[in-house]
Amino acid sequence: MTDAQPHIDALLQEERVFPPPSSFAEGAVVSDPAIYERAAEDPEAFWAEQAGRLEWNRPWDAVMEWRPPFVKWFVGGTLNASVNCLDRHVAAGGGDKVAYHWEGEPGDTRTITYRELLEEVCRLANGLRSLGVRKGDRVNIYLGMVPELPIAMLACARIGAPHSVVFGGFSADSLRDRINDAEAKVLITADGAWRRGQVVPLKANADEAVAECPSIEHVITLRRCENEHAFTPGRDVWYHDLVADQSTECVPAEMDAEDILYLLYTSGTTGKPKGITHTTGGYLTQVAATHRMIFDIKDDDVFWCAADCGWVTGHSYIVYGPLTNHTTGVMYEGAPDWPDKDRWWSIVETYRATILYTAPTAIRAFMRWGTEFPGKHDLSSIRLLGSVGEPINPEAWVWYWKVIGGERAPVVDTWWQTETGAILITPLPGITDLKPGSATVPFPGIQADIVDEQGDSVPLGGGGYLVLTRPWPAISRTIWGDTDRYVETYLSKFGPEVYVAGDGAKRDGDGYFWLLGRIDDVMNVAGHRLSTFEIESALVDDEKVAEAAVVSRPDDLVGEAIVAFVTLKSGYEGDDAMAADLREHVATKIGKIARPHGIIFTADLPKTRSGKIMRRLLRDVAHGRELGDVTTLANAEVVEQIREMSESAPAEE
Ligand code: WT7
Repeated sequence: MTDAQPHIDALLQEERVFPPPSSFAEGAVVSDPAIYERAAEDPEAFWAEQAGRLEWNRPWDAVMEWRPPFVKWFVGGTLNASVNCLDRHVAAGGGDKVAYHWEGEPGDTRTITYRELLEEVCRLANGLRSLGVRKGDRVNIYLGMVPELPIAMLACARIGAPHSVVFGGFSADSLRDRINDAEAKVLITADGAWRRGQVVPLKANADEAVAECPSIEHVITLRRCENEHAFTPGRDVWYHDLVADQSTECVPAEMDAEDILYLLYTSGTTGKPKGITHTTGGYLTQVAATHRMIFDIKDDDVFWCAADCGWVTGHSYIVYGPLTNHTTGVMYEGAPDWPDKDRWWSIVETYRATILYTAPTAIRAFMRWGTEFPGKHDLSSIRLLGSVGEPINPEAWVWYWKVIGGERAPVVDTWWQTETGAILITPLPGITDLKPGSATVPFPGIQADIVDEQGDSVPLGGGGYLVLTRPWPAISRTIWGDTDRYVETYLSKFGPEVYVAGDGAKRDGDGYFWLLGRIDDVMNVAGHRLSTFEIESALVDDEKVAEAAVVSRPDDLVGEAIVAFVTLKSGYEGDDAMAADLREHVATKIGKIARPHGIIFTADLPKTRSGKIMRRLLRDVAHGRELGDVTTLANAEVVEQIREMSESAPAEE
């Protein structure tokens, strides 16, 4: 083996193809494949057409102004995001349409129409103004999944104050760091949030954080769980008091297309979290266009994006995209297994959800729990399914399609990032033939490529770095307060015109993209670069395996040895025979080169609160090192168990 291998070896073959069902294709929002050529010939015209579906105060002078590494979209145009999400639908007679069917974890419900949402947003926007919040001031939001979360985001958008939502599962320290980086003036929180029947003490965390946040002038607290907490007179304000006497009308701020709509912090590979910024005009244009075309949005759809508004998925596909498109959404506050493992399916049945958008990690959990839970409910309303957040292994894809979608609903696997703002690589469900495990092709107007270490395009069939070679409207414009880091991280490796996503990918002979995970999840085994994900997929493909994570450890013989952490389905025993069996299974699926050197059976895998497997910790275990930071784990207790298991792991070859 030589080191000259220029690309990632892509060995796993998935041959199944699912064309759009004809009943679906006929009435689809996008039914003519010519859209791809049209957009490729003149991407600016394509995006201008999409922007034209929004309501602008002043039209733009130029569609795009690209001075690499920087870009501006809809230059000179002005608009307000909350007006696009709310006022114009109410003005057009659509005020009575439901914006959100909301369900609290304890079982309480709220139905909020577009008119009611507009009034609530205006009252809070006026309340924020009364506290001295002005255009350009940052407002932090630290809430559970209650209706006041989108209300708070839209109230900020109305007055031109960029919001920075911090996921309610984050700790006081994480909240403090994010508030301080953004230098926010106001924090909106709640007494608590419900999670598995327990109260998450949001206000107590907020108090701890804000004690070290000199920029915060006021803390607005929503009453949700009625739990006890401190109250600091002068600084603290009750949400209900603040909005009580406010008008239900509020003059919206006129925003430049390039003005910041929000900041959202995301973890980097090292160092402090990055405050990803998104704009008003370009961002709103692309989230609306992608939402409408990818999710095939019709007037009577009930769209459930089961993410949290604390992540970009919630920003783009619970709030800004769906509301701009006047869509009815579903919001659920709590855990999927509370009070039982069928909670999601009961929600689908109750609200007759037509579209469900979730993450592979959730799908794999449902697979593990078994089909009896979805089987208890009528899921016949579902007509389209979506996946996001990590590569979906073909077995999970097919399970989702079969068990949740009843073999009739296409599955759109959508690739994007916090930084990209909106979906970039995805099927269009009325025209794209689906291949389980592939995010398929770039959205119209998006130009993606796969390049080698030198930045040269890799021919079809090969793998390498996923890059974007033209800017798109929703691209993040900078990292808050650190433009150098922005340029360095995303727009320098292959020059200022090429956005480097940090993901490895391969393209098959049809030009379909197969995401292989983050670049640092790619191993070099005996001169072959292998994706941890491909091996995981092969493991999960075995009927006895529930979940698998693969990492590498330095090895004298092969460079990097493959270590697999495997959770078995209940009823199976993780012994030497099982390990041998699984190693053979991978060898058969991918090739001997990918056969794991060691297999460690574990009851669970360490995950972040957003559901991403913490490979860094597994690497520490595989290397026999001291464990790194575990504070961002959702399930810290599993790490010790895994360590114990690894010490008594079946012998490896
Ligand atoms: C990273 C971005 C985009 C919202 C949620 C995650 C991975 C995301 C896919 C997909 C394969 C995917 C990538 C990407 N990713 N979607 N469909 N197939 N990988 O946002 O936290 O910014 O993470 O998630 O590795 O770089 P994020």
